[in-house]
Amino acid sequence: MNSTPSLSGQSALVTGADSGIGKGVALALAQAGARVVINYAHNKDAADATVNEITAAGGEAFAFQADVSHEAEVQAMFAEMFNQYGTIDILVNNAGLQKDSKFVDMTLDQWNTVININLTGQFLCSREAAREFIRRGVVEVRSRAAGKIICMSSVHEVIPWAGHVNYAASKGGISMFMKSIAQELAPHKIRVVGIGPGAIQTPINKAAWDTPEALDKLLTLIPYNRIGKPEDIGKLVAWLASDDADYITGTTIFMDGGMTLYPGFADNG
Ligand code: BGC
Repeated sequence: MNSTPSLSGQSALVTGADSGIGKGVALALAQAGARVVINYAHNKDAADATVNEITAAGGEAFAFQADVSHEAEVQAMFAEMFNQYGTIDILVNNAGLQKDSKFVDMTLDQWNTVININLTGQFLCSREAAREFIRRGVVEVRSRAAGKIICMSSVHEVIPWAGHVNYAASKGGISMFMKSIAQELAPHKIRVVGIGPGAIQTPINKAAWDTPEALDKLLTLIPYNRIGKPEDIGKLVAWLASDDADYITGTTIFMDGGMTLYPGFADNG
């Protein structure tokens, strides 16, 4: 028996779905039966490749370029999604980046870019999705919820990260953003859930896993002793978006091989 929860008939938008975690999420949602908008910022070829992988497997998807920190581009993306798919059932706020620097050397541009994409992007996309969920309401044949918003956060919503204060601040912000809109939207039958991935093998952290030495060092932070894969997160998103998770809202699920367990204390303290 295939235990994958069915999302058939539902429409999903995944931001930053041309690579990394976003791509893994888009593939998993399509496999569960959802139609998926593959948002990307720059890499059209990679976004098209994600679409092709989905359609080759019998799924439905299209790619759309939009910078999630630009209001007009976000609104144009939702308009095109409604034009092609009629509505939205699942939003995955995944687009994010790092612009690392020592705090004292960090430029305002490095700060603003990360806050704008990682945090303001989630605000702009969630607002458009919530407006549509409220307008349309619950469609029971598809889901018990009027809509689901999944906010990609990080273990760095709780683990401080020297040299990455813009990134950690954006993820801490996502935590309270997610909880506050979950509280406001629950009466509308809209669920909002965060995911806190640990180290997942993607381009964003390539330097941390692409040599045996780097990987060994990284694994000292992961009690479960393996790096995560985009498909780990993809399966979690497909489940969280399904009615099997209908009673979950306003919380972050950490998926990190134990990175948030303070591994430095295993033989110290
Ligand atoms: C960061 C990665 C990092 C991981 C664990 C993620 O949110 O984007 O670069 O490897 O957290 O520290």
